[in-house]
Amino acid sequence: MTKPKVFITRNLPTNLSILQQFADVEVWLERQPPAYEVLLSKVRGIDGLLCLLTDKIDEQLIETATNLRVISQMAVGYDNIDVGAATARKIPVGNTPGVLTDATADLTWALLMASARRIVEADKFTHALRWQTWEPDLLLGADITGATLGIIGFGRIGQAVARRASGFDMKIIYTSTKCCDKELEKKLNAEFVSFETLLEESDFVTIHTPLTNDTYHLFGKTQFELMKRSAIFINTARGSIVNQEELYNALVNKQIAGAAIDVTDPEPIKSDSPLLSLNNLVIAPHIGSASYKTRQKMADMAIENLISGLKGEQLPYRVNV
Ligand code: DGY
Repeated sequence: MTKPKVFITRNLPTNLSILQQFADVEVWLERQPPAYEVLLSKVRGIDGLLCLLTDKIDEQLIETATNLRVISQMAVGYDNIDVGAATARKIPVGNTPGVLTDATADLTWALLMASARRIVEADKFTHALRWQTWEPDLLLGADITGATLGIIGFGRIGQAVARRASGFDMKIIYTSTKCCDKELEKKLNAEFVSFETLLEESDFVTIHTPLTNDTYHLFGKTQFELMKRSAIFINTARGSIVNQEELYNALVNKQIAGAAIDVTDPEPIKSDSPLLSLNNLVIAPHIGSASYKTRQKMADMAIENLISGLKGEQLPYRVNV
């Protein structure tokens, strides 16, 4: 019997032997993802696709892959995939929820603390041999303890961020499409507020919502203007939830005090982006889930989804059919 054909769009941090027993596997080994045209040619005749958030899986690609029976994304977010087009062809789409919650919440806190206490600036200062003496007003930053933390999106990651705030005696407010699980609120000491109230009252605003038509450019001029001038803005979700030009304006005009982001629009950030010139902005290269164990778990889950799809079984972690 001929094995099903699978294309994996990058080298994964796990062992592929179980998949290889079952399928004829081609792995894209370059550091850069396959260009769209290359991907189009690779998906002709394949049964299963394991892809990443860097791959555009649109209607044309799905239509080109006439034998495709499963799309397995190694990420929790899947805004790069036209799920509607996949569903129309009854192709199941899988993702990797849960396993990256803690790593992403940890990185959110790393960025929050780095921005509040100006760690990146301090590191550059020291490496430049500018540390002359202890100075009463050297590199002063924001207090975290006792501050108000505003969480936008109160799903798995938003809640994990809230849990980490408990050691800092913070007031936690959140906004979400779902309101309100009173027990959860009590457990996490969190209070539901409107989006506007959250912006006005928070010392730290952090985004944990997926990118959808509703959240595209959720943050622009109006939203930054509602925030405190002392506020710090964190984004570990998706770059285009924020209008980047308005983020730049807010930071350069000191409309807000600082920001730390793990995601940009586009990715990678363009070499001429004005954001790169700002001292009050920390930028990480989309590493929210980048811990050894997390990435291995994500890869294993994606393979599990892929094998289930190839067997015609329901995907254990699915976003559609
Ligand atoms: C995801 O999974 O959606 C993250 O952005 C990458 O780990």
